[in-house]
Amino acid sequence: MKIINRKRQVYLIGAGPGKDDLISIIGNKILKTADVIIYDSLVNPKILHNNYKFNNKSIKYIKVKKKRDYQSLGQISIIKLILYYNQKNLCVIRLKSGDPLLFARGGEELVELLGHDVKVQVIPGITSGISAYSYNGIPLSHRKWNSSITLISGELASSNNINEINWQNIIIGSASLIIYMGVHNLCFIIDNCKRYGKNNEIPIALIRWNTWKQQEELIGTIGTILTQIYDNNFGPPAIILIGPMVELRAIIKAKYKRFK
Ligand SMILES: C[S@@+](CC[C@H](N)C(=O)[O-])C[C@H]1O[C@@H](n2cnc3c(N)ncnc32)[C@H](O)[C@@H]1O
Repeated sequence: MKIINRKRQVYLIGAGPGKDDLISIIGNKILKTADVIIYDSLVNPKILHNNYKFNNKSIKYIKVKKKRDYQSLGQISIIKLILYYNQKNLCVIRLKSGDPLLFARGGEELVELLGHDVKVQVIPGITSGISAYSYNGIPLSHRKWNSSITLISGELASSNNINEINWQNIIIGSASLIIYMGVHNLCFIIDNCKRYGKNNEIPIALIRWNTWKQQEELIGTIGTILTQIYDNNFGPPAIILIGPMVELRAIIKAKYKRFK
């Protein structure tokens, strides 16, 4: 990929699932050319620190901290911020965890910016849901075990937003589910799993801070996981995996050591 005329250019870059060297090579290269980096709270600070050490020129780093019930900067303000620096003829990088266009409002940002005739390029990142499998040595597919996966945002899963997700179709139609932002709504999700045919014995894994040093996991079943979460005080950020591949993991885990 050629990086040309970076002035007045906006890049939406995926920082990957956490570990600092899981960002793409091109993503890292473009970071070094930035004037302004606007980043989310799940971006590993080490990525920024490495960039800071490399770069002598002064780059403006702006954290737009996002939490479940509180956003220090709302979505409209983030877009205004990007436009503001773009109009100053600067190279602006919008750095997001995982892939920038998956469950990250990157889609909204891209459409808005293009609507303002801003030049935007997107650099993909490894999404946390997929790496929650592969980084931990769990195959995402295996011809004997599983050949369909559905990615779901659990944030809109509450009963107020029930129309956003057709649980019945998803649960009946997909052997494996990968749920982002689902810990707070897990009770509701589990109820739906049971209602549409997943029994209490189906395995479920929660992987928290995946690929970070402090990674933790909680393995249980549809029947046990809610009590386990409570007992272990287990909270976000976590990816929820439901399906047969979690069982395969028990076989693999004995011999597999993940890369650190
Ligand atoms: C706003 S979404 C961002 C998703 C991101 N764009 C991606 O592709 O991974 C934030 C959610 O992603 C998941 N997530 C992101 N990074 C994670 C990590 N390192 N470990 C576990 N879950 C993570 C969590 O479910 C978290 O609530």
